[in-house]
Amino acid sequence: MCGIVGYIGDKQAAPFLLDGMSKLEYRGYDSAGIAVFEKGRIRVEKCVGRLEALRQKLSGNMPAGTMGIGHTRWATHGRPSDRNAHPHADSSGEFVVVHNGIIENYMSLKEELLAKNHVFLSETDSEVVAHLMAVNYNGDFEETVKKVLGMIEGSYSLVFLCAKEPDKLICTKKDNPLVIGLGTGENFIASDIPAIIAKTRRTFIMNDGEIATVTKDAVWVQDIKGTPISKKVFEVNWNAEAAEKGGFEHFMLKEIYEQPKAMRDTMTGRVAHDGSRIDFEELNWTKEDFADISKIFIIGCGTAYHAGMVGKYYLEQLARVPVEVDIASEFRYRNPIIDSSCLTIIISQSGETSDTLAALKEARRLGSRTLAITNVVGSSVAREADQVAYTHAGPEIAVASTKAYTTQLLLMLMLAVYVGQIKGNLNDDRTRELVTAIKQVPEQIHQLLENVEQLKVFATQYGNSEDVFYLGRSLDYAVALEGALKMKEISYIHAEAYAAGELKHGTLALIVEGVPVIVLATQNDVYDKTISNLQEVKARDAVVIAIAQEGDSNIAKYADHVIFIPRAEKYLTPLLSVLPLQLLAYYAALTRGCDVDKPRNLAKSVTVE
Ligand code: G6P
Repeated sequence: MCGIVGYIGDKQAAPFLLDGMSKLEYRGYDSAGIAVFEKGRIRVEKCVGRLEALRQKLSGNMPAGTMGIGHTRWATHGRPSDRNAHPHADSSGEFVVVHNGIIENYMSLKEELLAKNHVFLSETDSEVVAHLMAVNYNGDFEETVKKVLGMIEGSYSLVFLCAKEPDKLICTKKDNPLVIGLGTGENFIASDIPAIIAKTRRTFIMNDGEIATVTKDAVWVQDIKGTPISKKVFEVNWNAEAAEKGGFEHFMLKEIYEQPKAMRDTMTGRVAHDGSRIDFEELNWTKEDFADISKIFIIGCGTAYHAGMVGKYYLEQLARVPVEVDIASEFRYRNPIIDSSCLTIIISQSGETSDTLAALKEARRLGSRTLAITNVVGSSVAREADQVAYTHAGPEIAVASTKAYTTQLLLMLMLAVYVGQIKGNLNDDRTRELVTAIKQVPEQIHQLLENVEQLKVFATQYGNSEDVFYLGRSLDYAVALEGALKMKEISYIHAEAYAAGELKHGTLALIVEGVPVIVLATQNDVYDKTISNLQEVKARDAVVIAIAQEGDSNIAKYADHVIFIPRAEKYLTPLLSVLPLQLLAYYAALTRGCDVDKPRNLAKSVTVE
């Protein structure tokens, strides 16, 4: 959740630190700070608020020095404040640390330190680490870090500065991301690649338990016992441009418009040239692999969980395997009935969500086979799962997920077709039909994106409503959940999604005159039932905006407004119907003057429980 950057080299550290931190803004934060080794001591500057506040504080008085660390904080222990912002130092100011994660045993460590008259300046768990470094320092920075790691419990990425050894930075991690960037005469540390790609593409990813000593000319990695570890350096193929807004007003809008390309990238290498089948080379499953799979679990948080709801329909209908969908934070504590006859599919855009990672570990512990569906190459879930299929959506910066969701849906649809083929549930003709439909989706999304004026008008008309309801059945219900989440996240309108048939069991009481109700009616098999539910809300004078397939000449008789999506094969409709819902949320947020890319209280990547 927090962002970390580090620099050591020939150049001034502070400008890089601030720039790198700005590239991590999407992670969400409430305060920011840097520490730079300046004239024989470590100077720490930090403040609550956005990075701009820190920049202003430093304006005309930038720390001068060629080694430093920076941090953007998202509060876990202690409210957002100047004092609680990172970096944290021990009382002498000789040891300074930035931390992402949670030190679970910090209270007992702090009590011991308080008993020894240590004075703490913050309410954070992280500050104890700086104090522990000072208490345990024996003239050897690396050895002291190892000793302190033996004392702390929890999850962390940590970067340390020591005024007594100003030629190196030391960093380590457990259950939180950390990457090293390699330059010439300079090296970089970051919690995420966008922070360093403007400087270098040569990187490697730190694994749990590894400790890196980073000097300006070299990086040396070892484990806690001192065993050297050789790391595989790889070239990042994202360019700095790809992580920028590229002409759009917000990252979210840019990412909505990137969906056709993202879809094509998800398909690349997986759709046979002759359109006859789907293949996942990275999985290479056979009929035997599936012979003993009795159940599939799909697990995720937020939007990824909603993608899992759609995935359930796909896998049950096309692959004929029972599927249970779980919220990661529930799954991990509910003692699930799961064993080696199960396949657990973990969905996570970032691959770093704490609950999702824990759920994956739990599924593995119980003997399940595991597959990660993620967007971030080399992310924690990718490394932890038995197998991984990447969505290839490209970096998603806006907190509200859009292209990650649609690529997750597409990937799961292709996976369901793949399993259906392998198991013999789908014959050649049906497979070809589905593959043809899949290949059309990017163009259909493109068409939808060409025509957004009507959505802007609705967003202006209804953007100041207090509540909005979303109704749908079957696949439409799963999409309704995601539509309501988008609206809540960025416009702060109270938005709820209901299975349309469930309406009369309570929610109908909330439907009064003028309340906007968005009714998804794209599923032919339940169309008439959905229209009945639409009439139920209309009878209470709600304003109904229906989402229907082109050519539906019936729906305008019942709804106040209709948004048409291109006509498509049943399984593809979620990939299309979610588009107007993403855009409605976006334009409603604009109408209300909300900070679209950085909604209040939310973060892109939630790496704490
Ligand atoms: C946060 C984000 C959501 C996202 C969820 C899961 O809450 O704000 O947009 O859906 O985390 O993230 P993941 O990276 O695991 O998909």
